[in-house]
Amino acid sequence: MRQQIVAGNWKMNNDLAQTETLITSLKTKIKTSNAEVMIAPTFTNLWQAYQTLKGTDIEVIAQNMHFAENGAYTGEISARMLKSVGVKTVILGHSERREYFNETDEILAKKVDAALANDLRVIFCFGEVLADRKSGNHENVVGSQIKNALFHLQAWHFKNIVLAYEPVWAIGTGETATAEQAQDMHAFIRKTLADQFGHEIANNVSILYGGSVKPNNANEIFDKPDVDGGLIGGAALNADDFYAIVNAF
Ligand code: PGA
Repeated sequence: MRQQIVAGNWKMNNDLAQTETLITSLKTKIKTSNAEVMIAPTFTNLWQAYQTLKGTDIEVIAQNMHFAENGAYTGEISARMLKSVGVKTVILGHSERREYFNETDEILAKKVDAALANDLRVIFCFGEVLADRKSGNHENVVGSQIKNALFHLQAWHFKNIVLAYEPVWAIGTGETATAEQAQDMHAFIRKTLADQFGHEIANNVSILYGGSVKPNNANEIFDKPDVDGGLIGGAALNADDFYAIVNAF
């Protein structure tokens, strides 16, 4: 049975005090849920968030990491460092990392390997830009992003992989893919995995949708058979909105 997941990606928002305020509010609201609930504050606030949420059902996850174990990589954070502050899951390949920090499929494949080697669960993000969607090339783009970063893995690795389809044109734009567009792409992603790793793996991997998920559209999107949850940006910064999205399950 695949897991339903709602993960909040806070991006570069919220200092320590703001993090504490938002988390305290989430902690009061979210007591039980049908989905696994996760939040990804910025690196400097992970430890505090972890301490505050200990014993609750809300998991603290990271937004990124470097692939090296340690060494001369000024400004970077390793898998081991994340684990040492209680993190068990890391988001990799977010489109903002790809676009602004030049993360290629090749780099992402190394990051995925490093995370898995350190027993971290990976939420692996990918998605097409608007031009690909308009030219009808979206499935090719998504297929190659998955292939280039994940096809070298063994089937058993997928127990620690969650996929997040995030059409770049829908991130932070207020424009959402329709529930049908999300379903069509998620079905394609599952087929891509089935062709390479078999049906059992494909049926058990959770595939999240991300891109302007809000309280008013979460229900419709999460209702689709191949959508197993969401990666939430803007709406995760507001406790009421995030709570409403979690409750859409
Ligand atoms: P958004 O961001 O919900 O603000 O569109 C989603 C994401 O980037 O993960």
